[in-house]
Amino acid sequence: MQTNLRNRDLIGDLDFSKEEVETVLEVAFDLKRKRALGEPHAYLRDKVLAMLFFFSSTRTRGSFEAGMAQLGGHAAFIESTTTQIAHGDTPMEIGEIYGRYFDGIAIRHCDWALGNPYLNEVARASRAPVLNMQCDIYHPFQCLADLMTIIEKKGRDLRKKKMVVSWAYAASYQKPMSVPQSLILQMPRFGLDVVLAHPPEFRLMPEIMDQAQEQARKFGVGFEVVDDMEAAFKDADIIYAKSWGAMVHTADPQEGAKIIDKYTHWITDERKMALAKTDAIYMHPLPADRNIEVTDGVLNGPQSVVYDEAENRLHAQKAVMALTMR
Ligand code: CP
Repeated sequence: MQTNLRNRDLIGDLDFSKEEVETVLEVAFDLKRKRALGEPHAYLRDKVLAMLFFFSSTRTRGSFEAGMAQLGGHAAFIESTTTQIAHGDTPMEIGEIYGRYFDGIAIRHCDWALGNPYLNEVARASRAPVLNMQCDIYHPFQCLADLMTIIEKKGRDLRKKKMVVSWAYAASYQKPMSVPQSLILQMPRFGLDVVLAHPPEFRLMPEIMDQAQEQARKFGVGFEVVDDMEAAFKDADIIYAKSWGAMVHTADPQEGAKIIDKYTHWITDERKMALAKTDAIYMHPLPADRNIEVTDGVLNGPQSVVYDEAENRLHAQKAVMALTMR
């Protein structure tokens, strides 16, 4: 068991080794049990986390804030437009200064090509660990919660299980590609055969694809890319279908929005779910565009595990905070 995580950043999914992720999972399951039993677990008494948001959130804010309180500490919610960042505070200054006030700095910055460099610049200047609450490239805490949920539903031995990570149509906005990228990086390390499905214009970042292929090779699992949602769903154990934008194909948001509208049939519905195994689970990080991205029948149905996923954000984040911010 690798426990040397004190003061470590978590920005990309591969920042922690597989053994370190296993430690996080073990602690997360223990914290989930402790919360269910009402056992005190104030491992971060007097510690304070800065939560700096450049983008809105329901689950991430709620779960980090509740998690810090349950660990005996405090989380400071800082909305970027209420700061002096627009008036000149640089990422280096945020890292230097907040690193002196706080015991951890969690940041959500999803702007394409800006978010991840921002987090890394803060981290280079900060003496406190930097935690990625979602950037344009990665959503590591969502992925840890997803992995926890898959283990709960499918067991610890995930070899030979087929996980589909699929693009889905959405009308609301061009969503970040951080969730599918985190999934294809992390899941092969835990034995899942991953099938990535998307229309041609929704390809993921080439460097992330290379890393995912390398992980699949290293851990001896399958990694396949297809452009047919229905073919992908066939005989799957886990369906993870969500929308993301065409940012790799085009940097023009208007052109990206037009491309999305070509693929309205990429919806997860009961007919497509029936192509998967009868005990397949449906996953989505939320928020979802209901009856556009996924039908109410699937999202509210017996195969859906979306609320367990959302709950596990709390436990996985508490585990990482307790291990890194001590
Ligand atoms: N899944 C997720 O990150 O949710 P929020 O955007 O509401 O935080």
